[in-house]
Amino acid sequence: STGICTFDPGFTSTGACQSSITFIDGNKGILLYRGYTVDDLAEHGDFMDSCFLLLHGELPTEEQKQCFAREVTRHTMVHEQLLRFFQGFKHDAHPMAIMVGVVGALSAFYQLSADIGDPQQREKACMRLISKMPTLAAIAYKTSIGQPIVYPRNDLSYAENFLHMMFALPSERFEVDPVMARAMEVILILHMDHEQNASTSTVRTAGSSQANPFAAIASGIAALWGPAHGGANEAVLRMLEKIGSADKIPEAIARAKNKSDPFRLMGFGHRVYKTYDPRAKIMRKVCHDVLDHLGCRSDPLLEVAMELERVALSDEYFIQRHLYPNVDFYSGITLRALGIPISMYTVLFAVARTVGWVSQWKEMAEEPVPRISRPRQMFTGHMQRPYVPVEERA
Ligand code: SDX
Repeated sequence: STGICTFDPGFTSTGACQSSITFIDGNKGILLYRGYTVDDLAEHGDFMDSCFLLLHGELPTEEQKQCFAREVTRHTMVHEQLLRFFQGFKHDAHPMAIMVGVVGALSAFYQLSADIGDPQQREKACMRLISKMPTLAAIAYKTSIGQPIVYPRNDLSYAENFLHMMFALPSERFEVDPVMARAMEVILILHMDHEQNASTSTVRTAGSSQANPFAAIASGIAALWGPAHGGANEAVLRMLEKIGSADKIPEAIARAKNKSDPFRLMGFGHRVYKTYDPRAKIMRKVCHDVLDHLGCRSDPLLEVAMELERVALSDEYFIQRHLYPNVDFYSGITLRALGIPISMYTVLFAVARTVGWVSQWKEMAEEPVPRISRPRQMFTGHMQRPYVPVEERA
């Protein structure tokens, strides 16, 4: 009733966590960050509101927000030597591969005491990761297309800075479109945290060994990459491009229902939501707003996505299994409208989810007696048996 998600005490030996950060009601389609709906935060708040809220538990006062925003903004640059790291990757390396490598290496550049028991060091590590992730992501993109990197600017908001670092060129003026920046900010808010999903659980598990926070976040980036998780936004767009037009939808639906066919409707279904993912509803509206702003009648893929959703949600297979669009179903189309290249979709998810990851890592590290995570298993193998010399083996 208090919204504190507690696992069965019997699981404490697996290091399962109690958390007061994010609450999901999968049957009602409700997502709360510290008690506030993601709908309200996306509609009325900005990036710094939700970021401060997840990290510190309350919405900031105006003064707290200004101070927090200054602290995030003034650490957005990265160590110049780190730039050489990016040169070491093959030109067509997937940006997620780059992010796993570079973020994991940050502890070599930002000396933070290994003692995660020091509150000041903890706070500093969380803030540095929030500050630097957009810069690292934009450098990964610029490096992959052979363009000069664009340094962050302290006069821009978090979302504006990211778009500026992604798309500005030294050879021409670049103005961040405020509508696109606001859309980007809402996307960042929607993806910030989501309770104990695969990548967040990975961060908490890695952090529970008292590995440094940069290593823990790098493990979360690796876990997020998979198409069953954060990689789904990239997979949805590739799926929609492959379907191509509404007349191919029945075939896609039939394949998704066929157990012997590995094809799944990407962006559909969820471990927790058994109704519409509230983030998907907001994302669909953001998508329409961006397309309207761009004067596009629509995006053919958006038409395919909406028809696919309509057909699937009237099909017994999906209804019986409570399979609805999740956050990834419309995010790819929206990011495409914002000009984000498909290879960067999951990187953007990682930039946003860093806020949730560091908040959850901090909560884990603040436990009075932090315990190493140790999931148990249901053993299904042989119990003890006598050794068989090779000459006696069949
Ligand atoms: C994210 O955990 C989080 O919170 C994650 C996330 C976050 O913010 O961190 O929300 C982000 O990862 C969203 C999910 C993105 N992934 C996808 O969109 C990939 C496509 N979705 C599926 O792979 C699947 O729905 C999962 C992985 C998301 C959930 O898998 P489950 O737990 O196996 O799904 P389920 O148990 O609810 O499945 C019930 C049935 C099964 O069939 P039966 O064995 O009962 O016959 O539904 C089927 C599944 O095979 N099913 C699908 C399907 N998803 C589930 N069938 C066709 N298409 C699908 N997409």
